[in-house]
Amino acid sequence: MSENENPSGNQGGRAASRTAVLVCQGRAVADGRPAAGRFTDPVAARLLSDAERTPVDEVRAGTPPRGWRARGAYESVRACAEIVVPRTVAIDDALRGHASGQLVILGAGLDTRAWRLPGLAATDVWEVDHPASQRDKRARLAELGDLPVTARSVRFTPVDFAVDDLGAALDAAGHDPSVPTTWLWEGVVPYLTRAQVRGTLAALAARTAPGSALVVNYQAPRAKAAAGRLLARALRFSATANEPWRSLWRPRRMAALLAEHGLPVVSDESLLDVAHDLGTPRKARGSLRSGRVAVAERP
Ligand SMILES: C[S@@+](CC[C@H](N)C(=O)[O-])C[C@H]1O[C@@H](n2cnc3c(N)ncnc32)[C@H](O)[C@@H]1O
Repeated sequence: MSENENPSGNQGGRAASRTAVLVCQGRAVADGRPAAGRFTDPVAARLLSDAERTPVDEVRAGTPPRGWRARGAYESVRACAEIVVPRTVAIDDALRGHASGQLVILGAGLDTRAWRLPGLAATDVWEVDHPASQRDKRARLAELGDLPVTARSVRFTPVDFAVDDLGAALDAAGHDPSVPTTWLWEGVVPYLTRAQVRGTLAALAARTAPGSALVVNYQAPRAKAAAGRLLARALRFSATANEPWRSLWRPRRMAALLAEHGLPVVSDESLLDVAHDLGTPRKARGSLRSGRVAVAERP
């Protein structure tokens, strides 16, 4: 896809998510590299425009560009790759352990699981995302044309968690609340207010049959990270500048919230621990420590 063909941008109000692109760039950097055998995402690079692939290629080659803006993009993509490897491995392991016929990916962004996980052959996938981000992804997929899905089906379901009715949207898209669902909520909770997190959780809990599971990635508070993001917003070079974090959760509070909705937590680990076990880079220690993946089950 050429830069001019990149469909990202402001589409009727809110723009497509740039953090979704950043995470995809991180996965493209890491494809087949650290955690060899545990992490591979050959689809990620294909979803990126030529311009978006430039920092990916630079990080893979270890050749930082000149100029503060390009260097900022390079560092963001490099650091992101460090985070997404343990995050993806932890989530993919959790999904394998909680397979069901229905997988709903909330805030899917440029998630590639429906195109790369062979274990989804008997699973219908609902990709739920903000309408602007979803239009962007569908345009990128249309450019590729020939990308075969590994899931049984993929159903695109546009929902703005701030204003739309998630349950009604899933009903219309054919999700069946009477049979088990695996819910995945990766890299989205920080961008929602506490009220939006509670509202989304209430809506999904109402459609969660016994035997279902929720895999949620969230951020615990960390003073240095907040300062770093404020700086990035001030400098405006970061992909995250227009997508501020709105809620951080301590593990105890997240566990209490999930339990309130009938989803007791069965595991909750920091990405630092996962990275340590995988032997992947840990330069971004603070960010790794505050990033978490919890699994909750409906008994
Ligand atoms: C950092 S990206 C993560 C994307 C993907 N889950 C991943 O990990 O690659 C954040 C995602 O949250 C979605 N998002 C943020 N606020 C949202 C809202 N109010 N309603 C729906 N989606 C939202 C964005 O559209 C974007 O796709």
